[in-house]
Amino acid sequence: MAIGAVALVVLAVVAEALRQGADAKRLSGPTLRQLGVKRGVVIGTAVRGDVWQHNKAYRQLIGEQFGSVTPENEMKWAVIEPERGTFEFKAADEIVAAAEQAKQEVRGHTLVWHNQLPGWVSGLDAKDLRAATAAHIRRVMGHYRGRIAIWDVVNEALTDLGGLRRSPFLKLGRDYIAWAFGIAHGADPKARLHINEVGADGINAKSDRLYEIVRSLKARGVPIDGVGLQMHVNLAGVPPTFVDNMRRFAALGVELSITEADVGLRLPPSAADLRAQARVYATIVRGCLAVSACKTLTFWGYTDGRSWISETQPGMGAATLLDKELRPKPAFRAVQRALEAGQPARTP
Ligand code: XIL
Repeated sequence: MAIGAVALVVLAVVAEALRQGADAKRLSGPTLRQLGVKRGVVIGTAVRGDVWQHNKAYRQLIGEQFGSVTPENEMKWAVIEPERGTFEFKAADEIVAAAEQAKQEVRGHTLVWHNQLPGWVSGLDAKDLRAATAAHIRRVMGHYRGRIAIWDVVNEALTDLGGLRRSPFLKLGRDYIAWAFGIAHGADPKARLHINEVGADGINAKSDRLYEIVRSLKARGVPIDGVGLQMHVNLAGVPPTFVDNMRRFAALGVELSITEADVGLRLPPSAADLRAQARVYATIVRGCLAVSACKTLTFWGYTDGRSWISETQPGMGAATLLDKELRPKPAFRAVQRALEAGQPARTP
């Protein structure tokens, strides 16, 4: 009886392993990671620490398919310093260690952002906020010194109209972005430091202001290395000025990253929606390949089972490359093909 039960458990475990293996095998062929290497673009994904810990197939695919990982929440202020001076590195540590084992880059996300801040930050006066922010940047970047390729130092600092967002950090003065980059550079001199923005993918009031900020930071010798464009889009598609926008930033001498690409669909998506989504994804890939300063392209999650779009935008979802069962959608094949085809001439 007992032996029978053990045999059943063993069988179940073997079946589960086979099932997970089969899921992973469905993506056989050149991996996005390999194709990225061929094209000089590091292909990445956001990673959920909780899923990563418990789901082997999810973990395996990340190792196989991606050359870079961005912890989706695990390095955010509220998670990593929930109480002043108390740091919780465990969840992020595990992702970083696994990435090193898999020889992947890690993108650190994010240090100075108005969202996902712990409650204690909002009560601080200017002087105290400056001390707390400097301490936060130094401690978090110091903890991972030499192990993080790129940090999103400042995230979403602007409004759609091109003003400085009324974030708690404005208390530090209108020059807080330059200040934060200075602190970050001191904390990990080898990390490439980026400013990351949403809705600045094409040429518009926001990206005009971002351009002005980056130009002035460079002119003043502030240590900034790059600009991250989030690229949370939908079937309205990629702004037609996407490539020109990247080119103007590249001309300032900074690199570009696509940091959070996803393409949200109205649920449930039709087959035509999935094909249209694939075309939008291919446009994003080709845009990055067209600009040699575009060095990394990260998807904000890679499976519809774990994407913030369905969790935060009612009625929307199905935004990623693989379905909930980790099977490739047309979008995955389109990204593969776009990377395979490459771009004959890359310009700065
Ligand atoms: C999102 C995560 O995906 C969610 O899990 C979390 O609940 C909220 O934040 N811009 C960013 C990311 O820079 O950090 C956000 O990530 C998505 C928008």
